[in-house]
Amino acid sequence: MTAVPPLAPAELSGIPGSGAILPSAPGTPLEVSGAWPGRRLLGLMLALALAAGLLLAVLLQAGPRDPYSRATLALKGDDVSGGKLFRLNCAGCHGLAAQGLVGPSLHGVDHRKNDRQLIQQVISGRTPPMPRFQLDPQEMADLLAFLHRLA
Ligand code: HEC
Repeated sequence: MTAVPPLAPAELSGIPGSGAILPSAPGTPLEVSGAWPGRRLLGLMLALALAAGLLLAVLLQAGPRDPYSRATLALKGDDVSGGKLFRLNCAGCHGLAAQGLVGPSLHGVDHRKNDRQLIQQVISGRTPPMPRFQLDPQEMADLLAFLHRLA
């Protein structure tokens, strides 16, 4: 009596040329199909293309695209000088303690927006009346460090 151990799904799909398309029902021998080699290859290629597309989408979402954000995020920010910048440029609208005034409170803002979005918020001027600020990357990194401290 020779019991054939059932193959795990990974074994079935991972072996090139094994010809297995579907796991066979328990007890029946594996279907070795030479009939659909093209279909198998096509499926594999589609799966690879899909995986590559997904990876690309994730990378594009996660990584900053513009050189300014990339430069900023490569720097280590100093929250103390970020605090000075904040009091000079931002406190008029957001309050000295960032508690909110004309602009919203910025406590916990890094839960609502990621670093890339925070940078865009500061430099883009897309949400008037908040102006667009032109800070060099080190200043922006300092400001980010300060905003994170407000968490
Ligand atoms: C003229 C007033 C004004 C100034 C100055 C200003 N802001 Fe704002 N800010 C606003 C307003 C108003 C909003 C809300 C915009 C909206 O979403 O419509 C805002 C929104 C924000 C947000 C997003 C808040 C959230 O909950 O998503 C951040 C972060 C922020 N400001 C940071 C700053 C920083 C940092 C500075 C200084 C460099 C600054 N702001 C200067 C008025 C101002």
